[in-house]
Amino acid sequence: MGNLTFTMIKPDAVKASNHAKILQHLVDAGFRIVALRMWCMSRNDAKRFYAVHKEKPFFEPLVDFMTSGPIVAAVLEKENAVAELRKTVGATDPEQADEGTVRRLYGSSVRHNAIHASDSDENAKIEWQLHFNDSDIML
Ligand code: RTP
Ligand code: MG
Repeated sequence: MGNLTFTMIKPDAVKASNHAKILQHLVDAGFRIVALRMWCMSRNDAKRFYAVHKEKPFFEPLVDFMTSGPIVAAVLEKENAVAELRKTVGATDPEQADEGTVRRLYGSSVRHNAIHASDSDENAKIEWQLHFNDSDIML
């Protein structure tokens, strides 16, 4: 298991000014922020990012949502980072997410669920490379 993963605070949470609180929640859960960037993805960026879902009925609305405002992208360091972050973030649907998880606290629907967390070491690297250069990562 690697010790790095990728997260993205989604436009719903940034619009609600919850991004600083969410970053603090991640730090309090034991993650170290080793790269950080607030910016707006283009439609092409969002389509590349969520390419695995391109056949799903929710793909176009997901791209609309992810390009509706700024996001906060971060690379995080912790032992067993991918699994630990998925646990901290909670289930995709905030209503199903455990108490105290980021999505339970800050998400409002299955789409507007506040935060992304990579699902494997391999995907984490592919995903952070869409947001960062290697020299942006402060290991
Ligand atoms: P993520 O990739 O964002 O960390 O979320 P996840 O692994 O928990 O869920 P995934 O299945 O990868 O879905 C990606 C994102 O698409 C939106 N979604 N909308 N039925 C729907 O309308 C629907 N299902 C998923 C969510 O924003 C989800 O996080
Ligand atoms: Mg996913």
